Amino acid sequence: MRANNLLIYNRAMSEFHALVPAAGFGARMGNELPKQYLPLAGQPLIFHALHTLCASAEIATVFVVLAPEDTLFHSYDWSRFGDKLQPLFCGGATRAESVLNGLLASELEPDDWVLVHDAARPCLTQAHLAKLIAELRDDEVGGILAVPVADTLKRADAEGRILHTENREQLWQAQTPQMFRAGLLAQALQQCSSVTDEASAVEALGLRPKLVLSESGNFKVTYPQDLLLAELLLNQQGIRT
Ligand code: C5P
Repeated sequence: MRANNLLIYNRAMSEFHALVPAAGFGARMGNELPKQYLPLAGQPLIFHALHTLCASAEIATVFVVLAPEDTLFHSYDWSRFGDKLQPLFCGGATRAESVLNGLLASELEPDDWVLVHDAARPCLTQAHLAKLIAELRDDEVGGILAVPVADTLKRADAEGRILHTENREQLWQAQTPQMFRAGLLAQALQQCSSVTDEASAVEALGLRPKLVLSESGNFKVTYPQDLLLAELLLNQQGIRT
């Protein structure tokens, strides 16, 4: 993809693509196997996100960004996804670097939409994916799935004691997919690489991504007990096989 020419959009021709960064190790899971390959409902964790994205008729390609030294991906059978699933072995040291490397390797047009989705969010539903696309396809900036914060939030000091209670009004918890035009997102990540999600990089350009209401079920598997909850939810949704 050409990173110059970024803001010239040809809306009629824009396509939707997904990009799944999966080059991390998931240190908080305390496991030797990288998080994306931990077993969940009879499949590696990443399978569930890829299945949902590949099953969407609106999404043309699903890029998965893997570590250059990843030897596990090809030990699984991905043939059911056909050419729609495109592995890219160009992951970087951080999530932001992996996304940027993937965007540059993907050869998308600057005006194509890209939906960046965590490998570790297996319970994304088709309904929320469709809602995100429907609410943002004519948007100037793009946006993200998110939920209003439900818990009371405490700011801690270095000793783990409460400094003060944050006002949670109008606070949202960011999820994925995060949907932006490929050119804009590459430009944002090139200018601001110290971010933990794509929206932060776009915000740093002075733009205001839209929050699209999601649900708590689209959570990120972070700790070992999260796998149990994810399996329960997938069972309820009807496991993808
Ligand atoms: O570690 P965390 O759960 O925040 O990672 C979120 C997503 O970013 C995961 O899908 C992970 O594989 C990916 N990631 C990546 N490259 C890195 C670090 C994380 O693709 N260097």
